This record gives sequence, C-alpha cells and structure tokens, in this order.
Amino acid sequence: MNILGIETSCDETSGAVLCGGQVCSNVVSSQRCHTLFGGVVPELASREHERLIVSIVDAAVTESNITKNELDVIAATAGPGLIGAVMVGLCFAQGMAYALNIPFVPINHIEAHIFSPFIDEGRSDKAPEGAFVSLTVSGGHTLLSVVAQDLSYKVIGRTLDDAAGEAFDKTGKMLGLPYPAGPVIDKLAEKGDPAFHQFPRALTSQSQTSKSYNGNFDFSFSGLKTSVLTWLQKQTPEFIESHKADIAASIQDAIVSVLVEKTISAARNNRIKAVAMAGGVSANSALRKAMKKACDKAGMTLHVPGAVYSTDNAAMIATLAGLKLSKGMKAERSYNIAPYASFAAGARKA
Ligand code: KG4
Ligand code: ZN
Repeated sequence: MNILGIETSCDETSGAVLCGGQVCSNVVSSQRCHTLFGGVVPELASREHERLIVSIVDAAVTESNITKNELDVIAATAGPGLIGAVMVGLCFAQGMAYALNIPFVPINHIEAHIFSPFIDEGRSDKAPEGAFVSLTVSGGHTLLSVVAQDLSYKVIGRTLDDAAGEAFDKTGKMLGLPYPAGPVIDKLAEKGDPAFHQFPRALTSQSQTSKSYNGNFDFSFSGLKTSVLTWLQKQTPEFIESHKADIAASIQDAIVSVLVEKTISAARNNRIKAVAMAGGVSANSALRKAMKKACDKAGMTLHVPGAVYSTDNAAMIATLAGLKLSKGMKAERSYNIAPYASFAAGARKA
C-alpha cells in the first residue's frame, strides 16, 4: 500500500510517502519566520503552509519514485494544532484524495508522535510488539501513556502547566537564546556543568514537596520557569554570560531528571519492560543518554525515533495511518478539523 502523509499542525510543512510500510520520502520544511517573535505566530504559520504545501507534497511524491496515481490513501493531521495551520494540510489532503478518488485518513498528531519511535525499526506497517510506556514530549505536550498492543492507550500523566519543550524554550529565552531554544540549550549544555545550580524538580522524589509524589505521573514545569527567572534576576549580566553553558546544563538537567524518573517509575508501576520516547524534546541528547542509562539499569528496552522523526514530520502521519488500516480502521471520504482534540477516540483517560 502507498500512503501519502501530510503534516501542517504547527510550524513544519511536511509531506511523506510510505510504500509497503517503508518511508520512501519525508520532506520537511521548518518555518524560520517566527524566530524574530520568540514563538510561533499562528497567522504567519498558516500563510507559510499555504505558500509551501503544493511544492512540498509534490517533492514528497517525486522523491518516492511513485506517481500520484499510484497512491492508495492520503492521511493528514486533523489536530491538535493551530487551527489555520491544520486546515491548510487537512483541506489540501481531502481535496487531493477527492481528486484522485482515493480514501482519506485523519490522524491525531500526538498519536502519530507516540508511534514514531517504530518508524526506524523497519516495522512501520506493523504494530509494535507488546505494551510500552510512551513519553511524548514536544513544544505543546508532555504526556505519559501506557500503550497496548491493539494501539489503544491510557494517558496516565500529563503536564499541569507548561510542556517540557516550552520549559526549554521559555527558560532559554530568559537566557537570551533564540527560538526554539531546546536544541540550542542541548548544544550549549555539552560544555556546561549540570550540577552548577540545582533548579527545582517538581512532583518528584527530589522535590521539596516530595510527599505529593507517590505514583503521581503528572508534570509541572512552571515552577522551574519562575525559579530560573528569579535566580537570573539576582545575577549580573557578566556572570550570566560567562556561565551560560553551566546554566543551560543545569536547566536541562532539571527537566531531564524529571522526565526520566517519571517514565521509569510509570513503567515499573505498570510492570512494563519497554519504553518509547517521542516528540521534539526526545531529540535532546542528555535525555536520550539518561533515559538509556535508566532503562538499562531497570532491564527495560528503549525505543527512540531517528532524529528526523522526533520533531514534526509527515512520515509519522503516514505510518500511523498504515498501522490503523492494518488494524481494520476504515478510511473516510471527509473529516472535520479537530484543532483542540488532545486525544483521538479510542484513547482512555486514566
Ligand atoms: O514535536 P515538535 O517538533 O513540535 C510540537 O509538536 O511542539 O517539538 C518542538 C519542541 C520545541 O519546544 C523545541 O525546543 C524542542 O521540541 N526541541 C528540543 C530539542 N529539539 C527540539 N528540546 C530539547 N533538546 C533538543 N535537542
Ligand atoms: Zn509535534
């Protein structure tokens, strides 16, 4: 089966073709127009998607070495995301499916992230074997879920305030770093000392209010943000400048240690031996290293997406469509946008 995937939920315009479960093309264009504003400007994002969608989809089909007429299904992100941005990809995908007289599959962006670690493992047309705990960490979401063999999943924890990516981006902005600050902190932290300053680790065994932590898999990063801001306000600009790498490493360590501790204890509590990480923040090198170390210690296997599949991409959209169709899901002729849908039908809230 040849599946075209389209992703436009935020600031990446992407098209990908999956042929018989293998990714044949994955074209991603990241919008740079938001850098000046320190965050994604929704109207600019929609306009950029509108400008690029035809050429990106065209490039994805051309690179895959099949023709449009050989496509069997088109899948696109239907939410969650910025409404205008999602609409560009969703309407384009439905129009194209209608014109080619082939079915259309709406995909939940977060669900697509959850299954993205399995793209690189050459099993993209099959469900992962056995249950796993998923840590989905992006600019908009921080979720811990238990995922069953039949693709259904139970959300057992989520952020009470900021997402992990937001914590990177907002604290990075305080340090004067450009948006998105996550990858910049990652790079900067390589030369820094993570023990330089101990920032708070909310709702964990290391937090001052650790009594509130007992099988609580929710996250909170707004306290970290406040703590970084008030601490920075007490330092001189010269001190901050000369210790930027140490501060970046300390912020990163605070975020990473919370993510690792919660994920491992969630897997332990649910007697699950497999962990998967996904979303933009899963590209973080310190997180990958620390999670691998913790999984090895706990006798768990770790699945992580290849770097290109961590951040937003259409290969994950096509992959989940393939997985769903292989599980008997019916494709549709049309679908309404669901910009605020956090989770698609089938997800069970804990
Ligand atoms: O999944 P994604 O591309 O888009 C959303 O759906 O949000 O995630 C983007 C987020 C941004 O907050 C960005 O700073 C963060 O992922 N990110 C990283 C790294 N690469 C991307 N955070 C930490 N370290 C990285 N290497
Ligand atoms: Zn995403």
